[in-house]
Amino acid sequence: MFRLLSPSLFPLIFTPNISQTSMSEASKHILSQALLKLKATGQFRTLKRQEDMGVDFTSNDYLGIQRQFEAYPFTVSMGGSGGSRLLKGNHSIHETVEAFCADWFKAEAALLFNSGYDANLAVLSTLPERRDTLLYDQRCHASLKDGIRLSMAQHKFPYQDLKELKTKLGSAEGRVYIVTEALFSMDGDWCPLQELLELAESRADTWVVLDESHSTGISGPQGSGYYTSVHPSVRMIARIHTFGKACGISGAVVVGDQELRDLLINKARPFIYTTAMPPFLAEAILYHLKATKEAETNRAMLQKNITFWGKTSKTQTSSPIIPWIIAGNEACREVATRLQANGLDVRPILSPTVPKGEERLRIVLHNYNTEEEMKTLCEELLKEKAQ
Ligand SMILES: Cc1ncc(COP(=O)(O)O)c(C=O)c1O
Repeated sequence: MFRLLSPSLFPLIFTPNISQTSMSEASKHILSQALLKLKATGQFRTLKRQEDMGVDFTSNDYLGIQRQFEAYPFTVSMGGSGGSRLLKGNHSIHETVEAFCADWFKAEAALLFNSGYDANLAVLSTLPERRDTLLYDQRCHASLKDGIRLSMAQHKFPYQDLKELKTKLGSAEGRVYIVTEALFSMDGDWCPLQELLELAESRADTWVVLDESHSTGISGPQGSGYYTSVHPSVRMIARIHTFGKACGISGAVVVGDQELRDLLINKARPFIYTTAMPPFLAEAILYHLKATKEAETNRAMLQKNITFWGKTSKTQTSSPIIPWIIAGNEACREVATRLQANGLDVRPILSPTVPKGEERLRIVLHNYNTEEEMKTLCEELLKEKAQ
């Protein structure tokens, strides 16, 4: 009888009477310790409701598509999908969204995901195999880095710039995947995509994975993304387009060849082991995607605002994401709080999200920001700088 009980169960069975309260005190203690550490380093964050934060210089709703749909009545059946896409969860609307995306993003096929985070995990945990090498821009988003962590590849190296990439590519082993964002989410600059593709072409078995999260809707013909504005290359293996930024909703697709779609359906755990998106969400996504594709006036207005900001702030500005560096978590947070108190919704991006010393306000321009609003923000920032 005793042999059947694992020794590790003994403490649980014989510990006299641990009450609910003391268990909860113990867990509270553990949690408070973790929170104290965050507070001590100025990294503790709280959730704020988005309604009452002032003029929007923060959301990723670059083209105002989210705003446009907030007032749009949508009558739907509220049911879920019924399971994973591979079981009961595959509905025709999922495939309609995929067909729309394949056409819009100029690819053979598309596969829908619940989020960009899932899509990045799926691509990077599926494509690279054990002997392969992953070379990734060190500024890549956390979801790409988490995907890289999950991948089987033994060799995973960050690169800082093209020069370092070239060196690392020279000594890389196996099949190589170069991973980058098209428009960097925290720095607002564009990756050197043409050069990356040429580099990939210069070495056998070298491929590019491109996260188009922040470029979708705002670059390329009809907002079809950054890749569609450079020379197409056979070395582009997977592009990830997310819908939570300029498209103003949520979800994502991975686009590429039909074989990529088939492989992800068969092997990508973030695709297989999750409940498929509810059909009503896929339907809403389709409305948002169509509106984003057609939003030429919004794109022109956004571009006008980007140019206005560049002139007013006397900075080089090539995208709607403007990093305003204020080193130090506390200092950066204080400036953001002052701006918010003046009715300007600007948020601080703190370390460790960005490297220490590069803490910043992430200013986001939209088609709906007025010149007056941008001028006010600019003046406030210059005042802060002068202090
Ligand atoms: C570059 C980049 N990739 C992926 C994601 C994740 O996308 P999602 O919000 O759809 O999960 C984000 C979101 O912030 C992002 O900025």
